[in-house]
Amino acid sequence: MKKKWWHGKTAYQIYPKSFYDTNGDGIGDLEGITEKLDYLKDLGIDILWISPVYLSPFADQGYDIADYCAIDPIFGSMEDMDRLLGEAKKRGIAVIMDLVVNHCSDEHPWFAEACRDPEGPYGKYFYLRQVKDGKLPCNWRSYFGGPVWERIGETDWYYLHLFHKKQPDLNWENPELRQEIYRMMNWWLDRGVAGFRADAIINIKKPLPFRDYPADREDGLCDMGTVLKDADGIMEFLDEMRDQTLAPHDAFSVGEVFNDKAEELPDFIGENGCFSSIFDFSQTVEGKSAKGWYACRVPEPDDYKRCCFESQRRSEGVGFFSNIIENHDEPRGVSYYLPGYAQNLRGKKLLAAMYFMLKGLPFIYQGQEIGMENMRFASIDEVDDVNSRFEYQVCLDAGLSREQALQVVSLYSRDNARTPFQWDGSPNGGFSGAKPWLKVNPNYREINVRAQQGDSDSLLSFYKKLIRLRKDPQWADAAVYGRTVPLMEEKTGLMAYLRKGEDRDLLVLGNFNAKELTLSVRQLLSGGQMGESGGPETLESAPVLINNDDGLDREGDTLRLAPLQAVVIGIVHKNNK
Ligand code: GLC
Ligand code: CA
Repeated sequence: MKKKWWHGKTAYQIYPKSFYDTNGDGIGDLEGITEKLDYLKDLGIDILWISPVYLSPFADQGYDIADYCAIDPIFGSMEDMDRLLGEAKKRGIAVIMDLVVNHCSDEHPWFAEACRDPEGPYGKYFYLRQVKDGKLPCNWRSYFGGPVWERIGETDWYYLHLFHKKQPDLNWENPELRQEIYRMMNWWLDRGVAGFRADAIINIKKPLPFRDYPADREDGLCDMGTVLKDADGIMEFLDEMRDQTLAPHDAFSVGEVFNDKAEELPDFIGENGCFSSIFDFSQTVEGKSAKGWYACRVPEPDDYKRCCFESQRRSEGVGFFSNIIENHDEPRGVSYYLPGYAQNLRGKKLLAAMYFMLKGLPFIYQGQEIGMENMRFASIDEVDDVNSRFEYQVCLDAGLSREQALQVVSLYSRDNARTPFQWDGSPNGGFSGAKPWLKVNPNYREINVRAQQGDSDSLLSFYKKLIRLRKDPQWADAAVYGRTVPLMEEKTGLMAYLRKGEDRDLLVLGNFNAKELTLSVRQLLSGGQMGESGGPETLESAPVLINNDDGLDREGDTLRLAPLQAVVIGIVHKNNK
């Protein structure tokens, strides 16, 4: 595999509205990110993905952009942005922006022009259709509920929006629109951003001409997941985008790609792929239902493991997935993937080690490093997110009580991840001097940066150790490039894998069970062909590089993992000792 500048890095996602507020309006800002760069540097972060800070009416929290080359005043100014880029650069941190180009805002001047003159040049920037007989061009369901078609004022013109009606879809079939986007991307790249996270990118190719699909709910509409399976040819757009923007800048790009087709993976992240990486969402979609949240099932540890390993197999020899346990669209990973008995410091470290040591680029979402948890919403009024409010209604329509519906929303809502960052134990968690735009999780008194900073046993310190291991010259080859070999996959509650490097391996072991787990080293390693590479037959003297416990019970062929124990053991190949 050809080595790239970003391969050994650790990335971090910032959701600016909730990160740090410096001017006391209850909303996080760019100045707040700049102020916390030293914190991020100390953590070991090299790549920073910043969720949208562009001019926006915030119908979907900034994912509805009214001007791609302007900063929204709630976040600050373009000078603040330049200062952030400069300060980040000084610390060796690369900043990537959110690229939201499947749609813009209905308040973008392009859309205003399109509405004014649907048959003019800007009309072709969008999907506009005339509707004469009341029959919409197709029966697709918007991700946020209802049909994807919305009427323009009192006219007989309608426009397409796969997301909120304030997010009209851009027409990628139009080469002029594409050039417009590439110009904007190059403008940012020239300004000093290191790349992009490509939002909802799989949606830019629609199966045309528009037609109805079999309805999958009583609303007579069809889920976009089904529709997009028929969309062919997205690579023509993405390859062009790479050639005209990303490649000439040696930029890092990571795609938000759901429902990719297995055979397309090399096109996305292979040697000549359109992106550097795409997120692995296999655990996120596990247990999800097209019917709505009320019909979803939370994955168990063995499901989690299976999803991870499947993705490791798929990407081996192809490229790098970007690995996450949460982001701004998901509930908190520790509240979601860990069973009740594991929702504690020990369990949080276990989950951290298991995902972080996988092959790929690890992303940490703000607050994950201190173990921020899901919120307890007292009523639906405390939920801000459009999508969560829609799903609440879907629950009620399906016959759930209000209480049940709130429970479902509390488990899956992305507002769980959007509560303000917990910096310390002072009011509002030290996030802001004013009332924050979204309620702070009351557990900020226990869970915050200040409380963990000086504590070598804290989750924050544990993450630092993981990040350092990835950079340690002795182990970096295995941690970054080592092939992943799953071990004893059938063993309930055990997540075990080797990362096989050139002359050293990393053995990653996690016990998700509430009980101790006894393993035979010989049996464990037989799947990893240790004989061939000349590893030791016992692990008695192999160094334990990461451990969420005080010790490790091992003797001869026997190794005992305590409940929820996670360890990473370093193995030097025999012939290299
Ligand atoms: C992506 C974003 C999400 C947003 C959607 C529409 O999924 O991550 O927050 O709502 O795209 O832009
Ligand atoms: Ca502010």
